[in-house]
Amino acid sequence: MAAGAAAPAHVPVMLAEVMEALRPGPGVHLVDGTYGGGGYARAALAAGARVTGFDRDPRAIAAAREDVVAAGGRLTLVCAPFSTMAARLGPTSADGVALDLGVSSMQLDDPAYGLSFRFDGPLDMRMGADGPTAADVLNTASEADIADILFRLGEERAARRIARAIVAARPLSRTSELADIVRRVVGRRPGQAIDPATRSFQALRIHVNDELGELARGLAAAEQLLVPGGRLAVVSFHSLEDRIVKRFLAERSGRVAHGSRHRPARPARAPAPSFAPPAEPRRPGAAEIARNPRARSAVLRAAVRSAAPAWQQEFRP
Ligand SMILES: C[S@@+](CC[C@H](N)C(=O)[O-])C[C@H]1O[C@@H](n2cnc3c(N)ncnc32)[C@H](O)[C@@H]1O
Repeated sequence: MAAGAAAPAHVPVMLAEVMEALRPGPGVHLVDGTYGGGGYARAALAAGARVTGFDRDPRAIAAAREDVVAAGGRLTLVCAPFSTMAARLGPTSADGVALDLGVSSMQLDDPAYGLSFRFDGPLDMRMGADGPTAADVLNTASEADIADILFRLGEERAARRIARAIVAARPLSRTSELADIVRRVVGRRPGQAIDPATRSFQALRIHVNDELGELARGLAAAEQLLVPGGRLAVVSFHSLEDRIVKRFLAERSGRVAHGSRHRPARPARAPAPSFAPPAEPRRPGAAEIARNPRARSAVLRAAVRSAAPAWQQEFRP
């Protein structure tokens, strides 16, 4: 797609399942932490709920102006990261919280964001307008740090060789430069469907937007925000995110008995569970995946808030 062309609309993922988990209706206040193209919010509004939508991308908020008018006072938008939602709205002020993680189709398909290896654009990758860009990171970080980002967040086995090639080619400013370096280093096996640059672009995007830190803080914010009986629904798209959601719900529902290899066991006198044991994770059906390939890797985890107070202790994934 050429720069400046209109990006296709975002198709909401697992919309029916998310609405089933959140049960929007008259008198329900839903916080949509990832407003994006507003697919979830419009469905909740149509069911009679009131919605507060967060998005860290000022362009997503600006594009939603007509939604605000159409909602006739039932939709409020906030341009901020979802980790700030409890601080902004106050504790126990929401009946439901939705998080649909990652980037929207509009962001992915607009070269100006620099998120895709499919078209040339500035090496930016920020969803919002603040903080260092991907180019800043790649042009200033040490080779070891770049390798660590690619390995940890992209599970890229050639991380060290790619990092060395990046450092040798600095300064970088365009997505095409990065994509070419990765493709040259990794090579493309015949018949391989996935572009070799996929993992490196994912890793950098997660790093630039601190997506895993935002998720951990966002889950704790949802815990504070939800009323007893309030409902949380989180749709994630890769195993690093899903693992954080799974661990959070296991810990806060009292299911973690021994802690993981990386964490100490739950203290003997852990706070009372702030969530009921979560439902089994759900995945999209074959028909949705056929209609919307972006849904392919989606996992929905949902849970209901208990009456216990939010835990004082920070959630450390
Ligand atoms: C997958 S899209 C959401 C799509 C939305 N559910 C819909 O139906 O149109 C994710 C959106 O969340 C935003 N986003 C991602 N992480 C965020 C965060 N930590 N805080 C606020 N917004 C975030 C992105 O800018 C993007 O617009």
